[in-house]
Amino acid sequence: MLNIILMGPPGAGKGTQAKKIIDAFHIPHISTGDMFREAIAKGTPLGLQAKAIIESGGLVSDEITVGLVRERLSQPDCANGYLLDGFPRTIPQAEALKAMGPEIGRPVNLVLDVSVPDEELVRRISGRRVCPKCGASYHITDMKPAKEGTCDRCGAELIQRKDDNAESLKTRLENYYASTAPLIDFYQGEGLYHHFDGMVGHVALFDQIVATLKAAQ
Ligand code: AP5
Ligand code: MG
Repeated sequence: MLNIILMGPPGAGKGTQAKKIIDAFHIPHISTGDMFREAIAKGTPLGLQAKAIIESGGLVSDEITVGLVRERLSQPDCANGYLLDGFPRTIPQAEALKAMGPEIGRPVNLVLDVSVPDEELVRRISGRRVCPKCGASYHITDMKPAKEGTCDRCGAELIQRKDDNAESLKTRLENYYASTAPLIDFYQGEGLYHHFDGMVGHVALFDQIVATLKAAQ
């Protein structure tokens, strides 16, 4: 069973790898960032609550985020594995997920952590373009779509995320080091942790991840 957490700082390549992993292993991609952005686009009550927080680079409350993930992980399509991207992001979220796993019969069994130095994160995020429909990520110089401005996966017009600006990114990085990086120790302690160097290039990184997932299957 592949019940996976994919973690790493903003711009590490979580979304990029996630799309390839779900296509190869046929498990659902649960990205809390994508779920919040979808709620914002639809103007739901959740979206209205989350909009200003996300655009400024802050973290949505643990209570809201845990509730959202609990509901999503309980869906039937998660029975044969899942890939969490961007959750958990704080120790209380990790504790809640640990408690929730056995309750819903779907405990996490692998944590993949992709590390990338800050200067490279800034470079990646400032050149990123994303698909508002399927969430795929591109880069204006490194990972161009086949047709400029258009998503290869679903054909939608690419956009720049509202939180991909210098000020919000500074806050996102601060939050990462203060709240999310402590999860490395947490998952090392649980014996679930696997580290990956995110600087090796997206194809080589995917090959390394696939090898780890196949060994765990
Ligand atoms: P979220 O959407 O999760 O954003 P994030 O963690 O900041 O990560 P990103 O999506 O920016 O980066 P990524 O690692 O997916 O990189 P990507 O593959 O796109 O969260 C957004 C917000 O939602 C949060 O700030 C928070 O407000 C809220 N939120 C979400 N979850 C929450 C939670 N659990 N609790 C509280 N709040 C929450 O790649 C980046 C760029 O690099 C792209 O241009 C790509 O083409 C390029 N690239 C990728 N891989 C490579 C490579 N190997 N080499 C060169 N370039 C590469
Ligand atoms: Mg992402």
